[in-house]
Amino acid sequence: MDTLPVLDTQIGYINQPIDRTLNIVEEIGRLKQEKNAVLLAHYYQEPAIQDMADFIGDSLGLARKAAETDADIIVFAGVHFMAETAKIINPTKKVLLPDLNAGCSLADACPAPEFEAFKAQYPDHIVISYINCSAATKAQSDIICTSSNAEHIVRQIPEDQPIIFAPDRNLGGYLNRKLNRKMVLWDGVCIVHQTFSEQKLVRLKVRYPNVPVLAHPECDAPVLKHADFIGSTSQIRSFAVSDASDTFIVATEEGILYQMQKDSPHKTFIPAPPESGCNCSQCPHMRLNTIEKVYLCLQHETPEITMDESIRIRALRPIERMLEMSRSIV
Ligand code: 13P
Ligand code: SF4
Repeated sequence: MDTLPVLDTQIGYINQPIDRTLNIVEEIGRLKQEKNAVLLAHYYQEPAIQDMADFIGDSLGLARKAAETDADIIVFAGVHFMAETAKIINPTKKVLLPDLNAGCSLADACPAPEFEAFKAQYPDHIVISYINCSAATKAQSDIICTSSNAEHIVRQIPEDQPIIFAPDRNLGGYLNRKLNRKMVLWDGVCIVHQTFSEQKLVRLKVRYPNVPVLAHPECDAPVLKHADFIGSTSQIRSFAVSDASDTFIVATEEGILYQMQKDSPHKTFIPAPPESGCNCSQCPHMRLNTIEKVYLCLQHETPEITMDESIRIRALRPIERMLEMSRSIV
């Protein structure tokens, strides 16, 4: 009898050879049906995963899908905080992450004990946390937001109510400038968006005058000031579909370009260059997931997201507030 492979928690995924003759795409489809599983994927996943997904979206879209699914198993092709959010919303469902080590620099930058000490310095402030944080940090927050609803949510908070915004200082700074707020910011950044080069972007704009720059708000202020449109991954995608331009410069993780190009095959998308010599802007965490790992995790139903129930209950409240406060956002 075959022995079940054991998850090596150091490696973070089932490390098992796959029969080369197996049609993985067909097998994933078969397993999804057999197990009543749904595959949710973020835009920063490799194209093979995006093609297999039942839903592709930004963090808000994915959280909403996780909230409404009636599947027994959610395979989350994204990073840990996203799968954790799905589990917080769905305690009785099995939530699988193809590679347990798929983390996020923003979530890592805001450990819950340090955040608790930081919060204690501002007792009259409420806490709005970007969804890119751990369940333990969410549990210390009043409201969660994503890049697509952050502005909408902050606008609903009375101007005389002081706010701590964590963990993304770039998104928080962008909101402070746009809404004329003075939110206290936790000092975290996304390692991918932080490294876009303003100088190289300006050179690109000289080469391609009148080409709109579409940027994610996780980018640093010097890059954002050159943007014609700032929004979440889904919002950037929609903008490129509806705008009349035929060429765009895109400042976010390059995985988004796959759907943008599929939406508009006749349009040209130029990735904004990072500071480093290489011209790619891939999130090393997101890219830990592969179609093979999706197959193995669905087959063996591991690695699974688990968490302390008291943290889950406390983390659920600010997520529910977010969903409630951003109902009107499509
Ligand atoms: P959105 O897809 O919500 O814009 O967020 C991007 C991101 O940070 C994913 O890591
Ligand atoms: Fe985190 Fe940045 Fe990767 Fe998104 S792109 S998962 S914010 S490190």
